Amino acid sequence: LNLTKYVDALPRIAKIRGYGIRHGRPVPIKLTIGMYSKTWQFHRDMPPTPVFVYGQSLQTATFPGPTIVARQGVPLAVEWQNHLPDAHILPWDPKVPTAIPKKGGVPTVVHLHGGAHPPEFDGHAFAWFTRDFAENGSTWTRKTYRYPNVQAPGNLWYHDHALGLTRVSLLAGLLAAYVIEKPELEAPMSLPCGDHDLHLVIADREFYTNGSISIDREWKPEYFGLVITVNGKAWPYLSVHRRRYRLRILNASNARYFNVTLSNGALPFTVIGSDSSYLSRPVTVSNLVLSPAEIFDVIVDFSRLPAAVTEIEMLNTAPYPFPNGTQTDPNLDGKVMLFKVAGKGKVDDMPDKSRVPEHGVPYASVAALPPPTTTRYIVLYENQTAPGNLYINGLRLEDPVTETPKSGTTELWQVINLTGDNHPLHLHIATFQAVKMTKIEGFQEFKTCMIANNNTATCNLTQHAVGPVVPVPEEEKTWKNAVKIPPEFMTSVVVAFRLVEANQPYPFDATTEPGFVYHCHMGPRIQQLAAMLLAAVVVVA
Ligand code: C2O
Repeated sequence: LNLTKYVDALPRIAKIRGYGIRHGRPVPIKLTIGMYSKTWQFHRDMPPTPVFVYGQSLQTATFPGPTIVARQGVPLAVEWQNHLPDAHILPWDPKVPTAIPKKGGVPTVVHLHGGAHPPEFDGHAFAWFTRDFAENGSTWTRKTYRYPNVQAPGNLWYHDHALGLTRVSLLAGLLAAYVIEKPELEAPMSLPCGDHDLHLVIADREFYTNGSISIDREWKPEYFGLVITVNGKAWPYLSVHRRRYRLRILNASNARYFNVTLSNGALPFTVIGSDSSYLSRPVTVSNLVLSPAEIFDVIVDFSRLPAAVTEIEMLNTAPYPFPNGTQTDPNLDGKVMLFKVAGKGKVDDMPDKSRVPEHGVPYASVAALPPPTTTRYIVLYENQTAPGNLYINGLRLEDPVTETPKSGTTELWQVINLTGDNHPLHLHIATFQAVKMTKIEGFQEFKTCMIANNNTATCNLTQHAVGPVVPVPEEEKTWKNAVKIPPEFMTSVVVAFRLVEANQPYPFDATTEPGFVYHCHMGPRIQQLAAMLLAAVVVVA
């Protein structure tokens, strides 16, 4: 597919307000959002592509779906409706554990990624349902989900989470952004807003010449495409003025990591937040590494460009798989999008009153939270012999719950990556941050022992986790929903099962069935989820 780059304008994703206004105050509302089957034009010169997308109607449904803008403290109810046809538009592999309805239809369930809410609204992998709720999975209980929005303001997203189909349904387009706002906190920050505040939802795809998305039927450990789409267009451009912009960059790819720069660092990114939290102070960097599901909220100041510069490209240099795989092609996946910068003096819009905030948001620091009550060792295994198997501690989703953290506490998770690739760790409900990464010495010996014994004590973890300590990048030091776990390292992650802004336990019951899951966020592997139930009692093995 030889597509001309930068011919389609970057679409602005539609926003849906997740609250009403009564007497000047925000009030709870209920939205209805459907999943629809339609076609989508990814590029001027490409035939339309069959997609599955979210929207308030078939006509308005988009790839990615509409951004929901919720208000902190104002609950939002959403009835998620499945209007999908009898069969999936993409092939899927029945050899991996999959939601398979008896009467046909495409099973779906929506997960608000980064959301703190009771388990019954979490989009559990077995809580799937088909068109018109005709059939549902074993943990399905309700049509309408209620999101309390009690957590810190920040960037979340919503996407499909049905067992065994997550990777194909995200590829098909069931993904969208969700924002929690807190005007009292954010207005004084004077961040770029309105037209100068936008999402960049990046996703790689591979297409057949007839326009349809290409994926093998057979489960593969990773999916990579050479076409880079942003907000549903292949290599788009955005016309910008010489002023500050707020860009909320989400990597919604299944498995591809991005290492993005603006024309090799010509213009830096000032990072103000990551995932669902702000940083405690802005950090300026020349490049950003985004795992699948990771979000960086940045300010880019186009007024700093020399007058002669009128175009600036977003480039990508992350090998795939990351970090030891194939290098990007500078003419394909090495390019993301183009910013066309208006000429000097042609600044015809409002004067730029925005600022880069001097201070960020001081959430409860790791030290201010209750000290960890439990240390867990979480080991990521790859098993190439059985399809679809990335094991966590040698277990599968179907196996009994092993992690039963107590609601309101913090824990220390020592996450050990025995695979050759970096993996994005994602826990539902919790927010978490890596505090250090320790190289495993004698890695092969340790790995062989772990595969044979599945026991960190037997394999003398304490004698192996003694290598050099690598610090966590400054721009990742906040409460996150996806943490990069490098291969051959033990990454120490502080996990907060409580609200980190208010520094208090969840104001709802998080301990009911079916609990929450945690998993690696590489799309093809989302079907391999380990389960976690927030229990009233801590069970220490
Ligand atoms: Cu973004 Cu369990 O998922």
